[in-house]
Amino acid sequence: MKTIINYSHHLLEEIIQPGETVIDATCGNGNDTLFLSKLVGEFGEVIALDIQEQAIDNTDQLLMDHNCTNVSLVLDSHANIENYLIKELEGNIGGAIFNLGYLPKSDKTIVTEGESTVKAINTILQYLKKGGRIILVIYYGHEGGEEEKHIILKHVMSLDQKNYSVLRYGFINQKNNPPFIIAIQKK
Ligand SMILES: C[S@@+](CC[C@H](N)C(=O)[O-])C[C@H]1O[C@@H](n2cnc3c(N)ncnc32)[C@H](O)[C@@H]1O
Repeated sequence: MKTIINYSHHLLEEIIQPGETVIDATCGNGNDTLFLSKLVGEFGEVIALDIQEQAIDNTDQLLMDHNCTNVSLVLDSHANIENYLIKELEGNIGGAIFNLGYLPKSDKTIVTEGESTVKAINTILQYLKKGGRIILVIYYGHEGGEEEKHIILKHVMSLDQKNYSVLRYGFINQKNNPPFIIAIQKK
């Protein structure tokens, strides 16, 4: 069985095409950004956001180490993602990933929050292509994590099944609040 990270990437590589524009809504140390950068290739673009300068710097360094030049790094909340999307992208975003929680080995009080995450999800859903996916990797063991988890689950469970398929993937016998995936696919 695929691990959470491997399955989140698998869900993206199934639907993202070279040349597309895609979003890493929480770039952190840049691992997902790098993965997306390779998927969309030299004619594609990754828009990668984070609210911490440290995260933007770490991602920038990782991308330079791998000679990736197709990423726009944005120091801002994903709640403001609409400011970085041009009209032509409506219906054309290939996919997006959110890796929730805090930056590993950093300040555990700077975390993603339910309301801004939901706002970003809603904006990206508008811009997503048909068949495109938003992947959420939900970590909730930290302070505030449970609350964010509940806000997100309530929201994605209310998405109309005529327009979206919503999947949950996770290991139900793991201890200590194991992360799980929510994947939303636009019909
Ligand atoms: C679990 S880490 C992401 C890990 C990253 N995907 C990687 O591969 O290394 C979560 C990140 O979300 C960022 N974050 C928190 N709130 C945010 C927001 N409103 N908008 C964008 N990023 C945010 C944190 O600063 C942190 O770097």
